[in-house]
Amino acid sequence: MTRYLVTAALPYANGPIHIGHLAGCYLPADIFVRFMRLKKYDVCFICGSDEHGVPITIKAEELKKTPQEVVDHYHKVMKDSFESFGIVFDNFSGTSRKIHHKNAQQFFLKLYKNGYLSKRKEKQYYCETCKRFLPDRYVEGICPHCGAEGARGDQCDACGKPIDDLSLIEPKCKICHSTPIVKETEHFYLDLDKFQDRLKDYIDSRTWWKDNVKEFSLGWIKEGLKPRAITRDLDWGVKVPIDGFEQKVLYVWFDAPIGYISSTMEYFKEKGKEEEWERWWKDPDTKIVHFLGKDNIVFHSVIWPSILMGVDEGYNLPYDIPADEYLNIEGKKLSTSKNWAIWLDDYLKKFQPDILRYVLSSILPENKDTDFSWTEFQNRNNGELADIYGNFINRTVQFILKYNEGKIKIKNDLKKDDQEFLQNIYDKVEKIGNYIQEYQIRKATYEFMDIARESNKYFASKEPWVLAKKDKNYLDTVLYVCMKAVVVLSCVGDPFIPFTSKKVRDFLKLNSFTWDDIKFLQPPEDISDKKLDILFTKIDDKTIEEEKNKLGNLPKTLIGSNKNLDEKKAESVTINDFKKIQLVVARVIQAEKVEKSDKLLKLKIDLKDEQREIVAGVALFYKPEDLVGKKIIVVKNLEPATIRGIKSYGMLLAASDKDKKRVRILFADDQTEEGDTVG
Ligand code: 2FM
Ligand code: ZN
Repeated sequence: MTRYLVTAALPYANGPIHIGHLAGCYLPADIFVRFMRLKKYDVCFICGSDEHGVPITIKAEELKKTPQEVVDHYHKVMKDSFESFGIVFDNFSGTSRKIHHKNAQQFFLKLYKNGYLSKRKEKQYYCETCKRFLPDRYVEGICPHCGAEGARGDQCDACGKPIDDLSLIEPKCKICHSTPIVKETEHFYLDLDKFQDRLKDYIDSRTWWKDNVKEFSLGWIKEGLKPRAITRDLDWGVKVPIDGFEQKVLYVWFDAPIGYISSTMEYFKEKGKEEEWERWWKDPDTKIVHFLGKDNIVFHSVIWPSILMGVDEGYNLPYDIPADEYLNIEGKKLSTSKNWAIWLDDYLKKFQPDILRYVLSSILPENKDTDFSWTEFQNRNNGELADIYGNFINRTVQFILKYNEGKIKIKNDLKKDDQEFLQNIYDKVEKIGNYIQEYQIRKATYEFMDIARESNKYFASKEPWVLAKKDKNYLDTVLYVCMKAVVVLSCVGDPFIPFTSKKVRDFLKLNSFTWDDIKFLQPPEDISDKKLDILFTKIDDKTIEEEKNKLGNLPKTLIGSNKNLDEKKAESVTINDFKKIQLVVARVIQAEKVEKSDKLLKLKIDLKDEQREIVAGVALFYKPEDLVGKKIIVVKNLEPATIRGIKSYGMLLAASDKDKKRVRILFADDQTEEGDTVG
């Protein structure tokens, strides 16, 4: 029987998971895997954190931590939130582990031996201020393909195209914003051109790929494949295993997909079946399915198959690459930098996972970009999960407890319309399965809710409260039919809302089941000893308003710890934002050192209409007597802060270098007066 090796793109370990990640690949992958398991396919679900590359080193530099500290931290954050969201991989590894380094180096050496790597001297951006080469994301500029600003050295997020080195327009060093020079360095290249024809045949043969994936990949090939650098001048990553190249590492996009294999190896090794991984990658009966977001397509459909072909060790090529488009939020592009994002760990503190799972499944960007809005979240929870799904199950159970002493009779004398109702539901179960297998999760989700919708209608049309008085025998039939629908919902909901489905199955005392069994499963005959809580409660407007207000506001926890340099640049302010800050000229009338502090001075300042005290971190650079009588510029409307127990009512303006080793106060000149506004 076919076995499925399913992967979800390895997320960079440089920040927590947000709903863009979930919609892009993790949720559809999880729904697919849950379904395939219920269909009794042999499935291995592989992921791990992508721990190399510039996204990580940039983050580490910003946080003044080592890359290892950064990736260890986020690996755990991501693993925990995936688990709490019901996404349970068979293995969630990380690419900084030894097993992966060894594996990636072997891939490299094999490609080298087989003649698919060439060494080339190339010109690379080099920042003379930072004294370093600027690979990939260390440089930003205008995309040469689509003209978007903020394109990175390796790829443009706006058009999704990879960017060849040195083709960025107006390149700037990401760290210091200066214009880099171009300098020579030597790197290994993967000779993609040698795979051109084989790749074309391979992609053409994948007739079942989604249009977006196929067109994008063929388009890329059509332009003619060129050798691509697969090493970088960085010190964090998998070392290039060639003498003379010890200072360089493998390009993250070379080592990351190999991470899928390393994670599989690690998984089986830990299970004590060290050889087993090979069956999952090489046996012709295994289908490899890579779930990912659209910016990852060519890496998986062109570069990764070339690597697999090039090592020539009998690897299967990806069977399918279901890639989703982007999810916007409230009509705007998701941006982690502007905190225009919904963070999974944050969401989970407030809501149950199944609501977001259901809402996202209903709006997945399968064929085009789609939009998440908190109002839709509220409407789908209140109007569908609570009013349709939860209501049907709860009302059926309550009715049986109240009017039938919790008893359910297994009936065989169903009337025609009862049979038709159930048959319709079973057809939907079949349909849902087919949709999931075709990665049409939205349609599958609709049909799932439609089962509950139809069931509610059936319940209402049968008026069991009337039957309770008039026709006890038929009441038993109707309640039995309704409970069959409850059973179906509790099983068929598993891929979408696993926590709630499990709760209902526990109530029904249903342990394990297969997808094909669903229509044969019987409800328990007695539920009088059990209690089923309300499954979904309504969410009020105030709660939704609070969530909306979080968008775009940087919570304190994100400042400094979660932002990356991308984000700093993106935080542009409008003139109106700027006008909110009141800058005024003030004269220093007293200055003294703050006790037990080398760095702080306490200043008394005159703003013409008032006098204030502020605390400033300038004691290493100015003596108190240097400042008395001088005119400085202060932020007048800053919220007071307590520094070393002293209240500071404002902040002076000073210029400093990156490390605050040189700090100079911006003095206002003689012609200015206390209280003058600045701006
Ligand atoms: O785009 C990303 O987040 C990458 N870390 C995805 C890597 S997928 C794979 F190749 F591992
Ligand atoms: Zn620089």
